[in-house]
Amino acid sequence: MINKYQGWPGTIITGAGATDTLGAEVKALGGKKVILFSGPHISMTPMVQGPIEKMRSEGLEVLLFNKIGANPTEEMVVAGAEAMKEFKPDVIIAIGGGSPIDCAKAANVLYTHGGQVEDYNVNTGGIERIRPILLPFIAVPTTAGSGSEVTNVGVITSTKRHVKYGVLSPFLVPTISVLDPLLCTGLSPYVTASTGIDAMTHCIESYVSFVSFCIADAEALQGIRMIKDYLPIAYKDGGNVEAREKMLQASMMAGASFNVNNLGLCHQMAHQLSSYFGVPHGVANALLLPEVMRFNMPAAVERYRDIAEALGCDISGLSAQEAAEKGIEKVEAMCREMNIPKYLEDVGVDKAQVPAMAVTALQDGVGATNPRPTTVEECEQVYYRCFRD
Ligand SMILES: [Fe+2]
Repeated sequence: MINKYQGWPGTIITGAGATDTLGAEVKALGGKKVILFSGPHISMTPMVQGPIEKMRSEGLEVLLFNKIGANPTEEMVVAGAEAMKEFKPDVIIAIGGGSPIDCAKAANVLYTHGGQVEDYNVNTGGIERIRPILLPFIAVPTTAGSGSEVTNVGVITSTKRHVKYGVLSPFLVPTISVLDPLLCTGLSPYVTASTGIDAMTHCIESYVSFVSFCIADAEALQGIRMIKDYLPIAYKDGGNVEAREKMLQASMMAGASFNVNNLGLCHQMAHQLSSYFGVPHGVANALLLPEVMRFNMPAAVERYRDIAEALGCDISGLSAQEAAEKGIEKVEAMCREMNIPKYLEDVGVDKAQVPAMAVTALQDGVGATNPRPTTVEECEQVYYRCFRD
């Protein structure tokens, strides 16, 4: 059988102070006018104001667009594209967590292609409508979790229909990803933990996915090793630049990996916790991941053994299943040590919504590659096992 795998990152620039290179990179792309997408709060800090001033001092015109919330909506994307129509940029930069990067991806599509954001919904054939006419795009993550700085998708919320959907295309992989650990040293332990476990979930789901392309598998396993080593350090000592850089690199690899292998049941279920109850994405994954691993284990036990090994568990002399269980216990221990809530009722999830969430979870394409086919009843059972009683 012939398969085609695409969506690899372009240029990666990594290191403390890497954002200082933005102006030079814009010029190397032939750019003179930059629109910079960022969040309303972070854009007022030196993390964003510094690069803006530096680029202006280097002769570039820079317009800041910061009307972006925690979950980018269609309205925010339209506003970003309108700002681009007026300013006529030749390069786009996004500095922030996943939201400004996702918003910039969709605004790039809307600006260069026209129409409505919904026209590019991946669930209704949007991928076919996105052509390689996008502006060069530089993504600068300020958290180590989403992987959006190297992925082919922006997740957009429809406030009218109360759904999230992907605007997805191989052409949306950012031209350049700039990984600057100095942008992460101020993150709280809570955000460090939840975004870090999101990256861990990306690695694990990508590695057990039935797509399983060799490069993506290798990235996932190395991402797990690095997160195991450096997330606890970044959590305890936020100013540790080495740990922050390793986490950015691990998160980037996780993103590059799931770009190809896709994700699984944990993300399908986590998305519902966020949309029904506003549970932060990384926390939602952390709450569900161990039980999803237990559910999936029969379908991919050798893969879960590899994960346990990458997590540093001593698996010598153990069967694949015994080793796999050690890996799950290690994930649980990491979450416990970072004080991530353990049960769904701890984050306000109402058990009565489980049947509805199970239906919508299985409609989410993010889990189409889960190693174990899942019925609605089985999905409900996994949710129920994540409650205290
Ligand atoms: Fe995620």
